[in-house]
Amino acid sequence: MHHRETSPAAVPADAAGLAARFRAARALTEALAAPLSDADASLQSMADASPAKWHLAHTTWFWETFLLREHATGYRLWNDDWPFLFNSYYEAEGARIARDARGMLSRPALAEVIEWRVSVSDAMTPLLDDPALADLIALGVAHEEQHIELLMTDIKHALFLNPLGPAMWNGTPPPSAAALSALMGWHYHPGGIALTGHGGSGFAFDNEGPRVRRQLRWPVERQL
Ligand SMILES: [Fe+2]
Repeated sequence: MHHRETSPAAVPADAAGLAARFRAARALTEALAAPLSDADASLQSMADASPAKWHLAHTTWFWETFLLREHATGYRLWNDDWPFLFNSYYEAEGARIARDARGMLSRPALAEVIEWRVSVSDAMTPLLDDPALADLIALGVAHEEQHIELLMTDIKHALFLNPLGPAMWNGTPPPSAAALSALMGWHYHPGGIALTGHGGSGFAFDNEGPRVRRQLRWPVERQL
C-alpha cells in the first residue's frame, strides 16, 4: 500500500540489541515471503499495492543506500541499475520507476533479490555496533518493520484476487509466528481518557507523536 516516508524523531536509539533487532527484522521479512513463488511475489494487485519482491528489494535498497554506500568503506553497489527500480519516494536519490509499474519487474528474479538481501545483511555486520550509526540503523529497522506490514497487506489482496483462493500457509501457522508475536501485541484499555502517541525514549517516526490525551470509547455493542 502507499505510505509516506517519514523522518526519525529526534530521540536517541537504544544501541543495545539493535543488531539483534536488525537481524530479526531481516529474517522475518524473508520468512514471511518464503511461501511465495516468483510469480506470487511479482504480483501488483493495484496501483497502491507493491509486489512482495519489491518490498524485499526496497528494504534492501534502503540499507545499501543509506548505510553501506555512505558508511562502509569501499562498498560497491550490488547492481548500479537497481536503485532506479527500488527507490520509493526519496527525491534526493534520483529518478525511479513509477509506483504503478512495480508489477512489471519480472526481472530481477526473486532468487536474485534474495541473494542481494543476504549479501547486504552480511555487509551490514560491521556497522551494527557503531554508536554513530545507531539512530540511522534504528530508522532502518523501523522502516523494514513498516514494510513487513505492507508486505502482508499487499500479498493478502493479491492472493484474494485469484479465484482459486490460494493461501499463504495452507492452514498451518506461519513459520515466523513466534517472531511475529514478539514484535507485535494487543493492549487492553477499559475506555475513557487514554494517553496515545509515542512517549518513550526509543525510536519513533515523527508522525507517531506527540503524546496526547484522547477519549476512547468501546463500540456501541460492547457498551450494552
Ligand atoms: Fe519504504
